[in-house]
Amino acid sequence: MPVTVVVGAQWGDEGKAKVIDLLSKEHAYVVRYQGGHNAGHTVVVDGEKYALQLIPSGILYDHVIPVIANGVVVDLPTLFNEIDTLASRGIDTSQLKVSSLAHLIFPWHQAHDAIAEAMRGDDKIGTTLKGIGPAYADKARRVGIRAGDVLNAERFSSLVRERALAENVLIEQAGGDPLDVDDVVARFEAFGERLAPYVADTVSLLHDALAAGSHLLLEGAQATFLDLDHGTYPYVTSSNPTAGGACAGTGLGPRDIDRVVGITKAYTTRVGAGPFPTELFDGDGETLVDVGKEYGTVTGRRRRAGWLDLVMLRQAVRLNSLTELALTKLDILDGFETVKICTAYRLDGEVLRNYPDRSDIVARVEPIYEVLDGWGSALREMRDADQLPDLAKRFVEIVEREVGIPVRIVGVGAERDDYLLWSTSAAR
Ligand code: IMP
Repeated sequence: MPVTVVVGAQWGDEGKAKVIDLLSKEHAYVVRYQGGHNAGHTVVVDGEKYALQLIPSGILYDHVIPVIANGVVVDLPTLFNEIDTLASRGIDTSQLKVSSLAHLIFPWHQAHDAIAEAMRGDDKIGTTLKGIGPAYADKARRVGIRAGDVLNAERFSSLVRERALAENVLIEQAGGDPLDVDDVVARFEAFGERLAPYVADTVSLLHDALAAGSHLLLEGAQATFLDLDHGTYPYVTSSNPTAGGACAGTGLGPRDIDRVVGITKAYTTRVGAGPFPTELFDGDGETLVDVGKEYGTVTGRRRRAGWLDLVMLRQAVRLNSLTELALTKLDILDGFETVKICTAYRLDGEVLRNYPDRSDIVARVEPIYEVLDGWGSALREMRDADQLPDLAKRFVEIVEREVGIPVRIVGVGAERDDYLLWSTSAAR
């Protein structure tokens, strides 16, 4: 399978990094296609934790060329911080490529993010305040500055100055503190110089690699229900994490993609505001957060938690052409006496199997659950699907039955190797 896309099937934090880490073994290129340092990827290797926001987690393999493609918005302080941290731990980052077409994030984007959130009062989106939305807005307004612009240092410097002066007017109008323009220009001149060797024509690079028989792994950040078009608007991110975004975000065409892996946790979490049909406000919700360590990698915020929602997953299959699922963190359900799975919604007395197209309706639906007895044993050490207790197998089989695509990977713990390969019940 030359080109595989990995996409979150819920609201993010599904454990994509671990699956990407596993799939990276068979891929020569690991490519981020959207989002920015709002993402947080954690991989645990030999007990050591690597938390990455921008650089594809494939960097932890020597054979992988990590690529930040054109659809990503790049925060340079974060990028260099990651490069330095990885270097200090002996990881070579010299192979990293950053698309010349990728837009850069500047301090005014962060200022605008904070102002926009403050102006929303009680109706905040709960963004990561990293400037992601404003950076994509500038891209759409055609005033963005791109990675390729650093290759002409003089022009880059004047572009930064021009934008900083213009943005200061808007920041001051909104009651914010103006930026120190000279300081911003000086810092970004230095960042630009440091970025230059990493800048590449990644569209040609990826097509040439494909033509030469290399395998590419396209890594989505955030997730399906944070998609700007298909998520719970306006409580979404400002890019398209859905698999279609992998084409626009890399320059590969739809027919180049062979396989789309959806990542879902065995329950659901969400960070930030917005509707969440299976959200729990009781002790079970607390347990999911505590046992699942559901705190944001980037912002440290406590995540909201609830049962697995298969109405969402069915929609994720459609939106992304998912070919298979990876079901992560099944072990977090080990201690529950009963486990619930939402298979449909009820709205005003009617049963809905399809995901509603409007956020205000998603906010009103009631989940209909299939209730299972818990399996009452620890899955962590299990490495073979046949070792799973029958009730845990049943859980996976319900997911496959309701969603209509196979589960291939089941996560049973936090470490790199804590997973097992699952084959559909028919095949086992
Ligand atoms: P933004 O991407 O910072 O604009 O935030 C928009 C929404 O997406 C907020 O609800 C964030 O909490 C959420 N979000 C952004 N990135 C991630 C992520 O990587 N995981 C989970 N939620 C995210």
